[in-house]
Amino acid sequence: MVVDAEPVPWQDAWQSALYGPQGFYRRAEGPAGHFATSAQGLPHGTALLARAVVTLARRHGLTHVVDVGAGRGELASAVAELLPALRVTAVDVVDRPPGVAPSVGWVRSPGGAALPDSLTGLGDALVLAHEWLDVVPCTVATREDGVWRVLTVEPRTGHESVDGPPSADESAWLDRWAGPSALRAEVGITRDLAWADLVSRVDDGLVLAVDYGHTLADRPPEGTLTAYRHGEQVVPVPDGSCDLTAHVAVDALAAATPGAGVRVLRQREVLEDLLGPPQAAPHDLARSDPTAYLEALAEQSTRRELAARGGLGGFWWVLAERGTTVGA
Ligand SMILES: C[S@@+](CC[C@H](N)C(=O)[O-])C[C@H]1O[C@@H](n2cnc3c(N)ncnc32)[C@H](O)[C@@H]1O
Repeated sequence: MVVDAEPVPWQDAWQSALYGPQGFYRRAEGPAGHFATSAQGLPHGTALLARAVVTLARRHGLTHVVDVGAGRGELASAVAELLPALRVTAVDVVDRPPGVAPSVGWVRSPGGAALPDSLTGLGDALVLAHEWLDVVPCTVATREDGVWRVLTVEPRTGHESVDGPPSADESAWLDRWAGPSALRAEVGITRDLAWADLVSRVDDGLVLAVDYGHTLADRPPEGTLTAYRHGEQVVPVPDGSCDLTAHVAVDALAAATPGAGVRVLRQREVLEDLLGPPQAAPHDLARSDPTAYLEALAEQSTRRELAARGGLGGFWWVLAERGTTVGA
């Protein structure tokens, strides 16, 4: 990838590093080549999350599951296999990858905040965006002597410089959402607009964003922009070699879709509701079928990991309701 040496605003550098022609998310190995999520990379994790998604869809009588930011279709395939009666569509920035379950529809998307034009008028749908919004690029700002400034970055090195003031909209967002002790912040407007856009594509159903996040009460004062490469957290350099991600201001998201009955929940409580209380692996199985016993233990351990405080259990589930099909 040819990388510019000149400093550019973080949002532009981030967008081309992840979604440019040779962007990180266009690589063959996909997200799973670099990090595990609740949707892929943990033993039984994909199956557990698929069960939760299917339960949620059935509970609300929804017949179409759309996975936006589907990676290489891992979760979408598991959902389709679990309940073949569901229509399942996966959306991501690459052409349909090999290995996606044949019944899953695949839609190619531009990437970042932009969604495909064809994704519209969705009915009876559960639209899921699992770890999409944290990779929607945004302005990064720093506060010096009480004054907010935009940060630029040299794409080749990650070296940052302080630039001019944020736009009027960005300043208003920072005033409302950054919090008094913030010294640095990712300005969430692009995420708020992307979320509102996704919600607007659904006429009837549920829209669900699952992500790392924070609220005014616990927003980290130094921001959360970071990077991952081959399983390791690395210094964020927008050269296309690593993922670039920042936690999502979930309270701002909820405010961006007034009237959509938005609920903001934690993964640990949602999984308990959708999957029921965790079950211990039956001891008898250890003698009768040791392999099945080991599998049950592995599933139990991932279930604990998905609900862990301070870990994946702290993920936010932001749920919006659209139309009349879905009751609270
Ligand atoms: C952090 S990965 C999460 C992948 C998967 N959902 C998971 O949880 O393992 C983010 C994914 O969102 C995709 N993505 C980013 N912007 C998108 C967009 N506008 N439309 C569809 N997919 C997008 C990326 O290409 C990437 O596959």
